[in-house]
Amino acid sequence: MDPNASGLAMRLAEAGQSHLLQFWKKLGPKEQADLNHDLQGMDFKEINGFFQKAMEMSSSSKQEKMDTRMEPVPREVLGSVTRDRESLKDWELTGLHCISQSKVAVLLLAGGQGTRLGVSYPKGMYDVRLPSHKTLFQIQAERILKLQQLAEQKHKIKCCIPWYIMTSGRTMESTKEYFSKNNYFGLEKNNIIFFQQGMLPAMDYSGKIILENTGKLSMAPDGNGGLYRALGNQSIMDDMERRGVGFVHVYCVDNILVKVADPSFIGFCVKKGADCGAKVVEKNNPTEAVGVVCKVDGRYQVVEYSEITLATAEKRSADGRLMFNAGNVANHFFSFSFLKDVVQKYEPQLQHHVAQKKIPYVNGEGQLIKPDKPNGIKMEKFVFDIFQFAKTFVVYEVLREDEFSPLKNADSQDAKDTPTTARHALMSLHHRWVLNAGGHFIDENGRHVPAIPSLKDGTDLPIKCEISPLVSYGGEGLEDLVKGREFHPNVMIDEKGVHELVKNGV
Ligand code: UD1
Repeated sequence: MDPNASGLAMRLAEAGQSHLLQFWKKLGPKEQADLNHDLQGMDFKEINGFFQKAMEMSSSSKQEKMDTRMEPVPREVLGSVTRDRESLKDWELTGLHCISQSKVAVLLLAGGQGTRLGVSYPKGMYDVRLPSHKTLFQIQAERILKLQQLAEQKHKIKCCIPWYIMTSGRTMESTKEYFSKNNYFGLEKNNIIFFQQGMLPAMDYSGKIILENTGKLSMAPDGNGGLYRALGNQSIMDDMERRGVGFVHVYCVDNILVKVADPSFIGFCVKKGADCGAKVVEKNNPTEAVGVVCKVDGRYQVVEYSEITLATAEKRSADGRLMFNAGNVANHFFSFSFLKDVVQKYEPQLQHHVAQKKIPYVNGEGQLIKPDKPNGIKMEKFVFDIFQFAKTFVVYEVLREDEFSPLKNADSQDAKDTPTTARHALMSLHHRWVLNAGGHFIDENGRHVPAIPSLKDGTDLPIKCEISPLVSYGGEGLEDLVKGREFHPNVMIDEKGVHELVKNGV
């Protein structure tokens, strides 16, 4: 294990990373073994190469140049739930048919660390305090289950939607344990496939890998675009092929309204013969933290919110709307063959993006320093960086209030995208589903509550209404339960029926 004898010291010296062994002699045998294990598994030349390219790409002059090459998404590749109403049913039926043939898989990106939310466990396990206290994972699992049932009922054939879940070194064990403890939320264990993305070291601005303590490197997941490497090196593509998967819906863990395996989105992409598609909502605030789908040099791309200049984000079209308004909701469609090409051919061409961070490090004396300004970078690939390779790319625009309310930050005054905003978004959607199905809400005086409720004190909705995904995937099938009925504004609808909850008692 002696780093000189094993050749490790030499490899590190050649890569300019010898400092990683500076505390070697002070480490105990276990720490030495762990550090040796971590270092032996790393390709320093490759990492140095990633660093150089990423830094080059992130230089501000390059970003400004890119801004001048950006063009909005052209109308001909755009489908819209509001403008293309006449096609919606057809798309939905097409998608449902694909699902019934077990051709559709869903792939969840759940390798992030939830840093902004400030939790130490996987974000999917977060409870936003719905009346049912279901977590994001449970809501998604139940939507998958319901959609399988809908496809089975419609086509009288048994089907399955395999669920691929990408975790990272930090989230794998707890995620698996959580699913197992909860009996996979009624899904078949064999149809939930966990796999793990890679990790990369954090580096200082001169390209030196950062030590988080004397015997340990500072490591972080390699971004949600780490997906493509992981799909290849963990034989996930083989698994998909074996199951006959033709289309994959990739999505992020944090959107409480996510329509997992959305039949309309899938049907739209399939009907258009697309190999790649992105779901978007209209971005209406220039500083909103969403990437924008656009074209750069004639190729589709997402320009991330951290990489667009304010001047470009603020540009407006003649009608007053933001010019770059195709807000990425991190819901992507890939045909299996496109995904396979990406994994086999294009992945090595993807470059890492740079995120400047405050990274705790040990100084030359072995003391831990917590910097108060960014001192280094983390390198991440992005899931949407493969759009550029698509031959037929389409964009599907949906309504924010129906489909997008991400959980990013902890609750605090003025914070956006919090547990409270996510909870409200879901209950407000379910409230509208009840109204659309012919139900009514009444106040304590028996009067109908207005369809658009006013926020009494800004902290909670007057109407608490939660509908289990096991009852309705997207608002369908509620008439028998609610039509012509009046409810007090605290309602939960689940497989056992409609329950009026004690006011404020949930
Ligand atoms: C992401 C999108 C952004 C979009 C926004 C919508 C990317 C790169 N950016 O931004 O364009 O407008 O969502 O909410 O997709 N993840 C991993 N591994 C990682 C890092 C992240 O699996 O190494 C997963 C997270 O668990 C999460 C998703 O990727 O499910 C998005 O990560 P997050 O860091 O929250 O993305 P945003 O910056 O919010």
